[in-house]
Order: sequence, then structure tokens, then C-alpha cells
Amino acid sequence: MGGLLMGRPELCYEPVRAGELLKNGCLVAFPTETVYGLGADATSHKAVSRLFALKGRPSNNPLIVHIAAIEQIDQVGINIPEMAITLLRKFSPGPITVVVPKHPSIVPGVTAGLETVGVRIPDDPQAQAMLRAAQLPIAAPSANRSGRPSCTTYQSVLEDFDGDLDAILIGQSSRIGLESTVVDCTRSIPHLLRPGGVPIEHIRGLFGSVTVAGTSVEPNENSPGRLHPHYRPKASVHLFNHPEEVVATRQSAYLALTSHARAPEFGWHCTFSSIDEYARAFYEALRETDRRELSRVLCQRVPPVGAGLALMDRLERAADVRSFHGSASDS
Ligand code: TXA
Ligand code: MG
Repeated sequence: MGGLLMGRPELCYEPVRAGELLKNGCLVAFPTETVYGLGADATSHKAVSRLFALKGRPSNNPLIVHIAAIEQIDQVGINIPEMAITLLRKFSPGPITVVVPKHPSIVPGVTAGLETVGVRIPDDPQAQAMLRAAQLPIAAPSANRSGRPSCTTYQSVLEDFDGDLDAILIGQSSRIGLESTVVDCTRSIPHLLRPGGVPIEHIRGLFGSVTVAGTSVEPNENSPGRLHPHYRPKASVHLFNHPEEVVATRQSAYLALTSHARAPEFGWHCTFSSIDEYARAFYEALRETDRRELSRVLCQRVPPVGAGLALMDRLERAADVRSFHGSASDS
């Protein structure tokens, strides 16, 4: 199904309108502080199956369910572990997703048949107002076609979905630029399924220890989504340790992402002065290489601490290095 009007997505500036559309079963993209999301009523089989089809999402990859406030968590989960409440109280609204036992009203498609569900409370004001208006749990993967880099601007969402989406709630560029941290709260110790906007060090600080997906041989201990290819532009992505190596590479048709102020002799250069700035610019830079039809992206590695752990995870997945402890990727 195309957009509501003339086969194009409705450009929506009013969060209350976006919430009403979601209530009516529409697919609505919306801004969040991490990346844009592609929303559907998590209690509607029809809306959720349209969402999987539109995104091209494998059906074994569960979606995160978004709510406006912690008081709504009983609509999404049951027997909520204390660990999840502690994490949400500390880091929400914000870039954290807690995995908890699933409420029966969340349709099985959302969780890919799992008995657990990921729950997140975004802090973007447009998203907050939309979720309050909808009064429903909203399932939302990142608003990109499956496998492509995530979108941090509404213009990028339109590039991927123009003509297919019902509406898009217009908002700012995403402040963080990488997805939420996903933590499985159904075990005795918090289990990191995906590094993201909340650094692992902050979670370890709260609980004393955290286990990390992919570091044990136990089956089913990874996030299912992380088994799929991810964050790939058409250009090939290459990683370098030192900014000088990037600058010294004499290649045409490339984009360099480095902390080095000096532009390389050829290609297009994007300088960052902090890891946060690099993270914020990363997905849009990958998309820009495709717009410019560049063939290579040269990216500087960063230390995998604090915000750097999530950024290195995305860099390695984009480059198909897959070294976040050997597990593959989400969409
Ligand atoms: O920041 C974000 O989390 C963004 C915004 C839109 O909220 N959403 C996002 O969704 O990144 P998506 O679908 O691209 O990634 C969701 C990740 C996948 O790795 C998926 O496997 C994992 O969360 N996930 C969701 N539910 C899960 C569950 N019940 N058990 C384990 N992993 C789960
Ligand atoms: Mg995604």
C-alpha cells in the first residue's frame, strides 16, 4: 500500500496526527534521538506484517516496541525483571532497550515468535508526543530498507521508502546517530545484545558486571537480528588505524572519515573532532557515498570504549569485519 495521498508518504509535522495514523493501522516513520524508526501498532497483525514486507525485514528478526513512559511497560511485558526497571529509570527516556518477557497482546510477528520483547522509551520530543497521542505500543525497526545504513534524517528515510510509506513525522537529525543499547534482562546478570547509545561502562557501573553476546559458546544467546548483513552502502568500506593512513591513500572516488584536519589529495573528506561527532555523522556519510556514486569509504578506527564500542561495532559490520565478538548483524 502506498501513502495515504497520491501514493506518496504524508509529510506530517504534527505528532498528534502521526499518533492517530498509527492508531488507524498506518505505517509511520518518526524521528528518535538514535536513528529514525518505522512505526506500526504492535498489537495489530496486519500493520506488523505490512511493516516487515515494507522494510524487507527477515521474519526471524524481532522488532523493538516503543512506549512514551515507564508506566506503559505493563502493556508490553509481563513479570518485568527489577533489572529492566532499574535500567529504564536510570537511562530512559533515552537510548536503551530492555528485553523482558512478552505480554500476550504484542503480536507474535513483532518478536519473531520469541517469548521476550525489546522495550524502549525514546526521548525525542516529536517521538514522545506521537507515542502519547497513539496510546499504543509501537513496534519500530530502524527506518531503512533491510541491510542499508540506518537513517538519521527524514530526507534519507524518504530516499529509502518514498511511495511505500503512509506518513513520516518530520523531525530533527538524530542527536546520537547510532541505535540504542540492547540489554537482555531475563538473566541474573545483564546481557549486552547490542552496544549502542548507553555505554556498557555505565551499565556495569550500576550492576557490577555485564555479560556480552557472542563471547560464550552457549546457543541462543545472541540477538537474532545480529545474524543478518547490515549497515551496507553500495561502496566498499575499509578501516584504518591511523588518520595519516587514510590521508595518504591515493585513490579517486572515495570518502574519508578521519580525525585528521588535512584533506586527502583525492576524494571527499569528512573530519570529526570527537567520537560523538563521528557517530552522529556516520550513517549519513555512508548514504552520501551512494548519492555521489563513490566506490570506497575509508574510515578511521576508534578505541572501543565508551561511545567508541558501538561505533566500532557499526564500522566493522559496515566493512563486514564482524568482530563484535564474532556475531553478525541486525537490520
Ligand atoms: O535505537 C534503536 O533501537 C532504533 C530506534 C528506531 O528505536 N531501533 C532499532 O531497531 O535499531 P532495529 O530493528 O533496527 O534493531 C533491533 C535490534 C535487533 O538487533 C533485534 O534482533 C534486537 O533489537 N531485538 C529486538 N527484540 C529482541 C528480543 N526479544 N530478543 C533479542 N533481541 C531483540
Ligand atoms: Mg536496524
